[in-house]
Amino acid sequence: MTQHAALQRVLADPRVAKDPAHWTLYREGRLPEGWPLMTFVTIPGMTTSDGADHRRLRGLVSQALTPRRVDALAPAVRQRVLGLLDDLAGAAAPDGSVDLRTRFAYPLPMYVVGELLGLRAEQQDRLHELSDVMVSSSAAPGAGAAATRDMLGLLAGLAAEKRAEPADDLTSALIAAREEQDRLSEEELIGILLQLVVAGHETTLNLICNAVRALLAHPDQLALVLGGAVPWSAVVEETLRRDSPVGHFPMRYALEDIDLGGVVIPAGDGILASYAAAGRDPGHWAEPDRFDLTRSPVRHLSLGHGPHFCIGSALARLEAETALRELFARFPGLRAAEGAPPAPIASFVSNGVSSLRVRLS
Ligand code: HEM
Repeated sequence: MTQHAALQRVLADPRVAKDPAHWTLYREGRLPEGWPLMTFVTIPGMTTSDGADHRRLRGLVSQALTPRRVDALAPAVRQRVLGLLDDLAGAAAPDGSVDLRTRFAYPLPMYVVGELLGLRAEQQDRLHELSDVMVSSSAAPGAGAAATRDMLGLLAGLAAEKRAEPADDLTSALIAAREEQDRLSEEELIGILLQLVVAGHETTLNLICNAVRALLAHPDQLALVLGGAVPWSAVVEETLRRDSPVGHFPMRYALEDIDLGGVVIPAGDGILASYAAAGRDPGHWAEPDRFDLTRSPVRHLSLGHGPHFCIGSALARLEAETALRELFARFPGLRAAEGAPPAPIASFVSNGVSSLRVRLS
């Protein structure tokens, strides 16, 4: 589903489900062994459930991500950003360049997910490695499944730790919900943790990198924001539209034949939400490839739409805005390092670059 209007309709259509039991290919066992996207389709949790089940799971997590809770995280997010900026200059390679992806755009959202879930630093790095393999389209056959198994094991270990010693974090709160009210199965608990780890950091990491790249490539637009003519939120929204951090999101299923103005999606077929394409749909956006911070309003679909709208959207916006504002305040002369443009990540789901080498001044 690549067109903005059609995607928007499908995302909110009650005849479209997320439970793979409605997908003919899956039900009939016709998906190949080791299919890299299997985790996305089958992991129990919010992204694979519908109706009352989905509302139950989402309700448990949304309490931890209310606008008030997110506002309360703002000082910690800023502190972490400032700390990472302090370390950047010292992280420069002998040629004076720094990989902003590894040194800045990755550790920030991973830290925030870590704080939210109560992860230790070494768990965070391992989870990032595994998550990279899970979203990769170029990993060896079976590597995605192995990474998923390892991540499930690590998260089961985390749940055991928190069960033994509860703390003030979302993992402990979910365990309490499971044990006190029996509202969550063990599989769902681990599935939700996995979804929060993957969705909570790969996305924001790509948003920050995509925004920095766009600003460095468009000095006139950077001048607009540095001069105060447009707010940093405009950078975040225009980047979300033009370079959606989630390229494609698997998977939805038609519960009955759905007629989209002449094109019929047959019942039982899979539907792929192509957020990156919708953000550049020429039928919806004027000059879609242009990075234009004066577009208003930018009502993109890149954080989803309908019942599965991104539950972490306020947090993602807070992180990205803080990161960008402070980065350019600290290094106003930031520029792209010379050399070949960075390679895109080989991923069907994530839309970003595999490194982002910059010069700080
Ligand atoms: C759902 C994008 C950050 C957690 C989604 C969806 C999109 C999205 C497009 C809908 C997927 C679909 O059903 O088609 C993004 C982007 C982000 C971001 C672009 C950052 C720039 C976050 C963060 C968290 C998070 C920080 C958690 C801390 C989730 C979860 C869902 C979701 C759990 C599933 C919700 C449900 O199925 O009800 N996100 N996300 N996301 N996001 Fe985000």
